[in-house]
Amino acid sequence: MDVQLVRNHVKDVTCDALIISAARTKDGQDSSRVVFAGAAQTINSLLDGLLSEMSARGEFKGNAGELVTIHPLGKLAAKRVILVGLGKLESVSAQSLRRASAIATRHAQKTGARQIALALDGAGTQVHETEKIEAQAEGACLGAYTFRKYQQTANNGNERRIQKVLLLCEAETPAWEAATRKGIALGEATNFARDLVNEPPNVLTPAELANRAVTMAKQFGLEYEVLDRPQMQELGMGGLLGVAQGSAEPPKFIILRYRGASSSQDKGIALVGKGITFDTGGISLKNPERMHEMKGDMGGAAACIGAMQAIAMLKPAVNVTMLVSTAENMPSGTAYRPGDILRIMNGKTVEIVNTDAEGRLVLADALSYAVKEGLSPIIDVATLTGGIVVALGSVMSGLFCNDEELAREILAAGQAVGEKFWPMPLDEEYAEQIKSDIADIKQTGGRMASSVTAAKILENFVGNARWAHLDIAGTFYVDGPKPAQEAGATGFATRTLAEFALRSAK
Ligand code: BES
Ligand code: ZN
Ligand code: ZN
Repeated sequence: MDVQLVRNHVKDVTCDALIISAARTKDGQDSSRVVFAGAAQTINSLLDGLLSEMSARGEFKGNAGELVTIHPLGKLAAKRVILVGLGKLESVSAQSLRRASAIATRHAQKTGARQIALALDGAGTQVHETEKIEAQAEGACLGAYTFRKYQQTANNGNERRIQKVLLLCEAETPAWEAATRKGIALGEATNFARDLVNEPPNVLTPAELANRAVTMAKQFGLEYEVLDRPQMQELGMGGLLGVAQGSAEPPKFIILRYRGASSSQDKGIALVGKGITFDTGGISLKNPERMHEMKGDMGGAAACIGAMQAIAMLKPAVNVTMLVSTAENMPSGTAYRPGDILRIMNGKTVEIVNTDAEGRLVLADALSYAVKEGLSPIIDVATLTGGIVVALGSVMSGLFCNDEELAREILAAGQAVGEKFWPMPLDEEYAEQIKSDIADIKQTGGRMASSVTAAKILENFVGNARWAHLDIAGTFYVDGPKPAQEAGATGFATRTLAEFALRSAK
C-alpha cells in the first residue's frame, strides 16, 4: 500500500474519504461531551458547525469505534468525511488511534474508497506526535487487509481496493518519515503473517511455508537455510520427525538470520515458531467441529516470519535468528502413536500420551537448536493449547517466562503495538504432572492447567537461556468479522516480536 505524508490543508486534500476523529470527555456527573480539536475542529468550522450540531443531537457520542459519514457537498476537496470516535479523552492511547484508523479505513474501503486521507487527532492525550503518525499508518495497513485470492468476483476486478493513503501532517520531518516507515513495516509484516495463516492447508504445506519464508528472505536480504529430513535425522530432531512421520508432506526446519549488531560476538535473539500447517490431532484425532481452523496451527511460525520481514525492513542494531519447525500432523499407518517414546535433539526422551499434543514436540527440537547455537533470549510463539483459550479467551495471549526483566520487556513491547499478554506461572509444582514412569518426561499433564504443563515441558529444552513462551491459541484467529478486521487470521505477535527486537538494538 502506498502511504505518504502530505502537508495539505484539510480543506484542499483530494480524496474519496477524509478520516477525522474526536474523543469524549466528562461534562458533569453523568454526561459527557465530544471534543473537536485539530482537523476535526477545522472541518467543523468549514461545515458551519455541522459536527457540533450532530453531537448536540446525540448522533455522535465520541465512543471508541463509532463512525459517522458526512457529505460535504463541495465545501471540501474530499468527497466524504468519515468521523471516527476515540472513546474517553483521558484514556486515548496509540492503540486507540491505531484501532480508529483501522476501523475507519476498513469502512472507507467497504464503501468503495480508492484514495483516503487520515487526519486523526491526539490533542489533549498522552500520545506523542510520532506515535500518532505510526499508529495511523499501521492502522490503515491493518484495516485495509483482505484475503480474496480464492474468490472469482474479487479477481475479476470487481473489488474496489484502497490504493493510496495520505497522512496529513504539519511538516515532513525525518522523525515523522521514520514513524511512517515503521507503521507501514509493522502493518505489512502483520498482513504477511495473516496471508500465511489464511492460506488453505492444501496450498500451505510445510514445503510451501519454507518457500514463502525463503522468497521473503531473498527479497529483504536475510540469510536463510532450510533443513530436510536427512539433516534432521543427523541432528537427532526426534520430536519434529516423529510428528511429521504420519504425513505425506515432508517436514522442514526453517532458519532465517538477520545480522544487525556491530559485534559478531553477540549471538542475539532467537525467535522460535510452531509451524503445524494442519493439525488433525493425528491418531488422537480431533473433533471435526472446528478442525478447519487448524490450518492456522502455524500462526506462531507466521508471526516469526512476519517479524523477520519487519526487522529486515527497519534494520535494528541487533542479531536475530528465526527457527521454525514445520510439519503436518496426520493420522495414518505411518503416524506416531500414543505410547511411543521420542528422543528430542537435546537427548531428553518424551513419553507420548496424546498425538494431538504435537506442538511441544516440534518446538522442543527448535528450542534445543537455539540453545546449541548459544542464542538468548529465546522467544517462542505457538498456537499451543486449548487451555489458554479457556483461560484468556481471544483478548489476551499467555506469557510464560523464566526471567522477570524479559517478561516486563515483552509486556511493554506488546503494549506499545496494541497486543495484550498476561503473565502465567511456571511454578515447579506443576512439573509433578509431567513425570513419566518410562521416559524423562511425559508429553501431557492432563486437563488441569494444561497451558501451564505444556510450558513446563518446553522449559526442559531451553537450557540456561532467558526464555519466554507466547501461547497465542486464543488470539491467532477471529471466527467472524470485527470492526477493525475481517474474519480469519489476526497476525497476532508479529508486531510484538518486531518491536521487541527494535527495543533490543544497541
Ligand atoms: N493446536 C492445538 C491447540 C489449539 C487449540 C490451537 C485451539 C488453537 C485453538 C494443539 O496442538 C492441541 O491440540 N493441544 C491440545 C493438547 C492436549 C491434547 C494435551 C489441547 O490443548 O487441547
Ligand atoms: Zn494438536
Ligand atoms: Zn497443534
